[in-house]
Amino acid sequence: MAQTQAGRFITLEGGEGAGKSTQARRLADFLRARGLDVVTTREPGGTEGAEAIRNLLVDGAADRWDAWTEALLMIAARRDHVVRLIRPALAKGHWVVCDRFADSTLAYQGVAGGLGMEPLKALMAPVLDGCSPDLTLMVDLPVAEGLARADTRGSGEDRFEKRGLEFHEMVRQAFLAIAADNPDRCHIIKGAGTADEVQQDIESIVLDRLF
Ligand code: TMP
Repeated sequence: MAQTQAGRFITLEGGEGAGKSTQARRLADFLRARGLDVVTTREPGGTEGAEAIRNLLVDGAADRWDAWTEALLMIAARRDHVVRLIRPALAKGHWVVCDRFADSTLAYQGVAGGLGMEPLKALMAPVLDGCSPDLTLMVDLPVAEGLARADTRGSGEDRFEKRGLEFHEMVRQAFLAIAADNPDRCHIIKGAGTADEVQQDIESIVLDRLF
């Protein structure tokens, strides 16, 4: 895949119930109001094939897949998403706002799932072929608060939410560690404020980093 990227690629990452999906929609509206073409999408999912894989991942017993199978399904979904949606949109000059991306695999399967980040980075490098976000917004929230919010959402997609507090605390710490290791790409956003406050933080970071 040629690296002919003209648009910008923004990802939102964070634990359960951090408010990423709401903020992704608001950010897309903000960018559109500045005259940009914006595609909003999510992982796992975003294309027909990846959404089919998503159904296998988010439903059912917590131990339905072992950590490696789960990681491979996530990465297969991501490859389809990158090849069929993200790269073509960026090449057309569109901005892509994506709810979760590769950092979620590193945090959930790599750290909390026990596979380690390095084997997953090595596996994802050829699969993603240089497709990396220009900016990652890490929406950080205490685990109990996020899980309580996710619980009231009632989407039925609760396979990951059913894992214990300890698992989700590992996910949170992993996202913070990834942000610390990648200061040029990542920015931590405090998710505990109101949606309007979080939105304002995100807009000022995006203006600062990408305009
Ligand atoms: P969502 O609730 O943000 O739509 O994400 C669905 C679940 O998938 C969420 O619990 C996090 C999990 N997930 C992973 O475990 N690894 C990944 O690579 C991705 C993208 C999501």
